[in-house]
Amino acid sequence: MPFFQSASLKEITKPFIDAIPGARQIVQRVRHGKKPPPEFSGWGMTTNRVPPWKNDSQIARDFLKANDALIAAVRDGHFHMTQYADNTDKLGMLRSLMWRHYFVFWTVRHATVSGGESLVECGVSDGLTAYFASHAVNNAKKIYLYDAWEKMLEEDLLESESRHMGDYAYLTLERTKKNLEGVNAEYVKGHIPDVFKTHKTPESIAWLHIDLNASKPTTDSLEEMYRHVASGGAILFDDYAGRGFKDTRSAVDKFFSDKGGLFLPMPTGQGVFFKY
Ligand SMILES: C[S@@+](CC[C@H](N)C(=O)[O-])C[C@H]1O[C@@H](n2cnc3c(N)ncnc32)[C@H](O)[C@@H]1O
Repeated sequence: MPFFQSASLKEITKPFIDAIPGARQIVQRVRHGKKPPPEFSGWGMTTNRVPPWKNDSQIARDFLKANDALIAAVRDGHFHMTQYADNTDKLGMLRSLMWRHYFVFWTVRHATVSGGESLVECGVSDGLTAYFASHAVNNAKKIYLYDAWEKMLEEDLLESESRHMGDYAYLTLERTKKNLEGVNAEYVKGHIPDVFKTHKTPESIAWLHIDLNASKPTTDSLEEMYRHVASGGAILFDDYAGRGFKDTRSAVDKFFSDKGGLFLPMPTGQGVFFKY
């Protein structure tokens, strides 16, 4: 019997389809007439890969528990997402941020192996990141929260960042405190770097998050905080590979060019430095 009659077309084509990246999705689309929905889409990233919070693991369960509690708090009006006031679908927004928040959760949990005593965030806004960071360690570490809770200043912005002038004028420290009720936090209000002159930087930091939407205060924060980050700790950046943040990316790359550690850029646009 000729070979083509003994083997089905599917069997013959399978090795070729498996060998070409993306070919299986094209075949499925032709066969089923529509694209299967992506596993995740949001915050500039779409993927067909199964997200880690669907794993049967402790960290996945803990992350989902924190995420569900936040959804309930937003729904009940206990947590206000003032930064996304114009977005009418707040829960959809939270869903789209899940990969971002998973990286926050994971890096905090990993950084605790460093033995560093505290968590720090520079750029807090309503407290979304701080919420996930504190839940990752069940509130066991104090989180120091630095923010101006006032509009961004012209002198902090490069020409390429001038679109941010006046941003965040609507934030209030009181609202963030209410959002983060029960979190083991110390609030440090003031503009970076001036605030570093009046507030003593925590001695031993396990995890530092920098999310300031501007390269100058990002560098100022690194210069002040880096020596306090414990060996084995992590420094997470929110704005590393976002479009429109190329100066932040260059500043971060330059800062770490002579430091001992490894930088991992992530597809969400975040980046994390693991300090050796
Ligand atoms: C993108 S938001 C932070 C979002 C926050 N991490 C979250 O997850 O919701 C940027 C924050 O940086 C703060 N910020 C910007 N420049 C600052 C500076 N020089 N000093 C202190 N805070 C600043 C703003 O007030 C704003 O709250």
